[in-house]
Amino acid sequence: GRTTTAVKLVLLGEAAVGKSSLVLRFVNNDFEENKEPTIGAAFLTQKCTIGERTIKFEIWDTAGQERFASLAPMYYRNAQAALVVYDITKPASFIKARHWVKELREQATKGIVIALCGNKYDLTVNDEAEEDSGEVSETSKRKVSVNEGQTLAEEEGLMFFETSAKTAYNVNEVFLAIGKKIPEA
Ligand code: GTP
Ligand code: MG
Repeated sequence: GRTTTAVKLVLLGEAAVGKSSLVLRFVNNDFEENKEPTIGAAFLTQKCTIGERTIKFEIWDTAGQERFASLAPMYYRNAQAALVVYDITKPASFIKARHWVKELREQATKGIVIALCGNKYDLTVNDEAEEDSGEVSETSKRKVSVNEGQTLAEEEGLMFFETSAKTAYNVNEVFLAIGKKIPEA
C-alpha cells in the first residue's frame, strides 16, 4: 500500500553557493537572480512520489554566513539526510563542503544520507567541448573539477551531483536520489 515517509533534510554550505535557490527550484520550480541571504534558517516542505512511496521532505535551509555557523548543529542533529552544497566556480566553497562532511560524519546521526552538490553548473558554458576533451573550456568559470567532487564523494561515501538551480539541471534528481536511499519506516 501507499506509505508516506517524513524525511528531515538539512542543507549546509558556504554563503551564496545556492542552497536556498536549490530549495526554491525543488519546491516552487522557480529561480531568483538576486536572492537575498538566508537569516538563521528557513523551513519548507515538499512531497515527492517514488514508486509506491510518498516522501515528505521537511527541509531546513540553513544560513551560510559565518555569523550563523553556531546554529547549524540544531538543524542537522536529527536530520536523516543532508545536502552539502558548494559552488563549482568557488574553490573556497569546496573546502568548506569538505569541512561540513567531516562535521556531519562526526556529529550527525549515524547512517545519515548525504548528497554532495556542486552547484551553478550553468556557469560552465560550452560544456560539450569540456566533456569531449576533458579540459575546461576558455569561457568556463569552473574552478572545481568534476573529478575533485567525485573523489570526495567516493572517499566519504556520498552521492554526488553537479546541479544548476538556475536551469533546473539535476535538481529533482538530487532529491529523488536521497529519497530512494531512505529506508522504509
Ligand atoms: P546563504 O543563504 O547566504 O547561505 O546563501 P545560499 O547558499 O542560500 O545562496 P542563494 O540561493 O541565496 O544564492 C546566492 C546567489 O547565487 C543568488 O544571486 C542566486 O541567484 C545565485 N545562484 C544560485 N544558484 C545558482 C545557479 O545554479 N546558477 C547561477 N548562475 N546562479 C545561482
Ligand atoms: Mg540561503
